[in-house]
Parts: sequence; structure tokens; C-alpha cells
Amino acid sequence: MTGSDGSGRTADAGHLVLIGLMGAGKTTVGRECARRLARDFVDTDDLVIHTAQMSVDDIFAAGGEAEFRRIEHDVVADVCASPQPLVVACGGGTVLDAENRRLLRATGTVVWLRAPAATLLARVGDDTTRPLLRGGPAGVLARLERQREPAYEAAAHTSVDTDGIAVEAVADAVLAAFAECAA
Ligand code: S3P
Repeated sequence: MTGSDGSGRTADAGHLVLIGLMGAGKTTVGRECARRLARDFVDTDDLVIHTAQMSVDDIFAAGGEAEFRRIEHDVVADVCASPQPLVVACGGGTVLDAENRRLLRATGTVVWLRAPAATLLARVGDDTTRPLLRGGPAGVLARLERQREPAYEAAAHTSVDTDGIAVEAVADAVLAAFAECAA
């Protein structure tokens, strides 16, 4: 069976990949989708932390964002190579890398979870574990939204709005989009 993008991938066989800015709900929605699909759930940030044996903050402090992106790229390559179909929550900057975008799109259906910067700010503005949010989360999120829009657009097969929508309903929409992309 050939997927709608002609890659030979189908949703049954491919990963369900969630992308979007910090606070978009990738982890929470991803866990719910994994539960419903009876699949394993992975979060690229968790895998980076496991690989480096350091927190995200410590990786940024020791090697800068470049070191974090290097480990993140290795993690994405490993996840994409998994023969077991997974639900994957990507860190917000994962799809800035063109090769990551290619791998994720080739091995999965990529769903962009969207919410306005003000909503993201309400969800993660007080968080102290995300190094990029230091120095003014409101301005950072608005800037990242502008800068990253093209990368999310290029990576995503489809998008789902999460603004003011309960996790269960977002998961409904994600799974509907996932099924539709495979049809
Ligand atoms: C980042 C988002 C974070 C994490 C790191 C960098 C980003 O993940 O990967 O702090 O560049 O947007 P979440 O999107 O899961 O918060």
C-alpha cells in the first residue's frame, strides 16, 4: 500500500509526529494519542536528556544550542529508524534542521500543533527549564513564532489548532488528521 505522499508509508506503519512551539501541547497530546493507538510514546527532549545524561539546561550551558541540536539530530535519526511505529513529540526547534524535517516526513505523518503566542505564553511563560525562554518569554515566543513558521509549514503534513481546546478534543483532531493523511 502506498501512502498519500507516494512514499510507500501508511499511517498504520508510520510514526505519528507532533511538532510546534513550546507550550503547543505536543507531550500531553502525544501521550493521549499513544494511549489510544496503543503505541509507545517518545519525546525527543527526554531522549536527548537520556543520551547526554544532562538536563536540557545543562546541555545548553555546557555546549550551547549547537550541541543540543547535534544530540537532537542523532535522536531524531534513531527514532525515525525505529521499525516499531511510535508517537513522537518533537522539541520545538527540531524541525529547524532540514534533514530532521526530511526524516520525520519520510517515516511518519507530521502534525503541527498550533496556538497563538499569547496562549503558549500562558502555558509555559513561568517555566524555568526551557533555556530559550529566559530573558522575556513573551518576546521570545512571538519572535520564534515568526521565525519558525516556514520550518513548521515545510515539515508538516497537516496542522491542528489547540487554542482553548481540551486535550481529548485535540487528540481526536490529531487522530482524524493522521487517518486522513494515510488515506
Ligand atoms: C526548544 C524547545 C524545547 C527543547 C529546548 C529547545 C525550542 O522543547 O527542545 O528547550 O527550540 O523550541 P519543547 O518544545 O518540548 O518545550
